[in-house]
Amino acid sequence: MSIDDSSAKIPVHIGIIMDGNRRWAKKRGLPAIAGHRAGMNALEKVIDSAHKFGVKYLSLYAFSTENWKRNPLEVEGLMGLFRLYLKNKVERLHSRGARIRFVGKMDAFGRDICEGISAAEERTRGNSAINVIICVNYGGRQEIVDAVNCLLAKGTECPITEDAVRSKLYAPDIPDPDLIIRTGGELRMSNFWLWEGAYSEYYFTDIYWPEFGREELELAISSFSERERRYGAS
Ligand code: FPP
Repeated sequence: MSIDDSSAKIPVHIGIIMDGNRRWAKKRGLPAIAGHRAGMNALEKVIDSAHKFGVKYLSLYAFSTENWKRNPLEVEGLMGLFRLYLKNKVERLHSRGARIRFVGKMDAFGRDICEGISAAEERTRGNSAINVIICVNYGGRQEIVDAVNCLLAKGTECPITEDAVRSKLYAPDIPDPDLIIRTGGELRMSNFWLWEGAYSEYYFTDIYWPEFGREELELAISSFSERERRYGAS
């Protein structure tokens, strides 16, 4: 099914696990950070395409709670890219009407990154063309643990309910992802949207993230459009 077809189902929220940056770089004899830079540059076209296809929320897994265990030089390089992104790319997204939000534990970042994040969120708060959610220092298990601790600290009565946990997730107003795409050929969730992705459809592709573009996004949406979602019912 082509997604130009008016009967095509377009996911409201697509999450992407952007994997394969380092393998993309290695294949070209480049350092890992060159792969991450290419990955950062791939974002723009994917955001534009998602918007054109009518996707309202696009969440991007940019840095997990586990990524701190990587080589310190690579971690520092990634932090440099976040700074660059906040400095150079926010204005363009704003001009396209995108609202940018960051989801994860921000207290791990330096003051400059935290200020950049707040400024980007503030600048784009009134936009509604597409919501771009960048997940940084995000881990699904940590998110659930944080929600439960928050309820305990408030003295919430037992038994704790699903609705109560949901209300304390990092961004409870964002609809659950309908479709989660993972590039780079691995078949794992890697701690992404553990709670929110309970009924997401998955799409895996071998393509490395820096090579992912409009055509691949269209293939993923077409695959989603052909699936029947039953949420556990018959
Ligand atoms: C996974 O590929 C990718 C990451 C851990 C980082 C993702 C970062 C970006 C796309 C660029 C920065 C983004 C922003 C918003 C500034 P990998 O390193 O695990 O690659 P591999 O599977 O080939 O080893």
